[in-house]
Amino acid sequence: MQASTVRSPIATITGLGSYLPARKLTNGDLEAMVDTSDEWIVERTGIHERRLAAPEQATSDLAVEAASLALADAGVTAGDLDLIIVATATPDHLFPSTACLVQKALGARQIPAMDVSAACTGFIYALAVAEGAIAAGRAETVLVVGAETLSRITDYQDRKTCVLFGDGAGAVVVRRASSPDHGILSVFLGADGAGADILKLPAGGSRLPASTGTVSERLHFIHMDGQEVFKFAVGAMIRSVRESLKSAGLTPSGIDLLVPHQANARIVDAAVRLLRLPGGKVFHTIEDYGNMSSASVPVSLDAARRQGRLVRGAVTVMVAFGAGMTYGGAVVRWDAPRQRQGDQEI
Ligand code: ACO
Repeated sequence: MQASTVRSPIATITGLGSYLPARKLTNGDLEAMVDTSDEWIVERTGIHERRLAAPEQATSDLAVEAASLALADAGVTAGDLDLIIVATATPDHLFPSTACLVQKALGARQIPAMDVSAACTGFIYALAVAEGAIAAGRAETVLVVGAETLSRITDYQDRKTCVLFGDGAGAVVVRRASSPDHGILSVFLGADGAGADILKLPAGGSRLPASTGTVSERLHFIHMDGQEVFKFAVGAMIRSVRESLKSAGLTPSGIDLLVPHQANARIVDAAVRLLRLPGGKVFHTIEDYGNMSSASVPVSLDAARRQGRLVRGAVTVMVAFGAGMTYGGAVVRWDAPRQRQGDQEI
């Protein structure tokens, strides 16, 4: 059902790529590190294993791998890019931006490159910035990456958080839409700073600079009130799905595939139940990769494409929430993304 006030898409996703480091951290491995069990982790989160970056790999290294695949998939080169945006909560450095490191490694021209900080909602925020740049005539071809090395800020002595997180990167190429019906139909963003304290990395910024005390108190790791985050997440995901669909002139029955942020299978299940979506329309990667923050959505999107789920005309809703607290959703009606060798037939 398409409302008459709905605008034609300005931008579209033309290429996808993802990169997962080879090393696996299983629930069995975690049982040997903290007081936990495979049974508890699977029942409470849905996670079986996650990937860990090699010691020499930083976030930009993962980002470059995913970006190179996305560029090849889109049939463009780094020289065609007008803007690079990297969404990450685990940049290589506080500055320079990870996007500048990606620009150099890809051999892109001297185009704008910047990071977006919206934690796990970062990829959706970055997609909105890309669409806005194209709408304003500032760019025609934008690289959007969600990349994380969460293992570097995870406290492997804290069983309440260390079972959740993994490393990875996903990337898309966003270009001006050429079809009046296919492309990014809408993006919805929100934030509630009142929840800033329930999920944070306490030290290492200007509020609490690094000191021997911050290190010994383990304040350079993720601190989280899991139950408060859980409560916020369900409402934020439902609102983001409904608002982004409304802007696209659609209702939940128009969704072909929901690609949610993979924070906890129970959060997704609760949101999906309240949205009355059939389980078969929801895409999961959490079993294998855990929560990869801003990389969760683009990695899942690429996995969905490999499984032949992004057929031409299919309506996909991406939705996320994260520290801030931030939240957001995006609705895409697919052109035919290019097929790579090894992808299932679509
Ligand atoms: N293994 C075994 N027991 C555990 C573990 C574990 N890994 N972790 C916690 N427990 C225990 C707790 O200590 C507690 O025991 P107690 O009752 O004796 O005190 C019991 O299990 C229940 O703990 P809860 O916190 O109530 O467990 P809950 O069912 O809420 O699950 C979880 C915890 C998985 C963290 C859940 O709250 C959650 O997923 N929250 C949202 C997390 C999230 O989405 N974070 C986003 C982060 S993204 C970013 O920006 C980086």
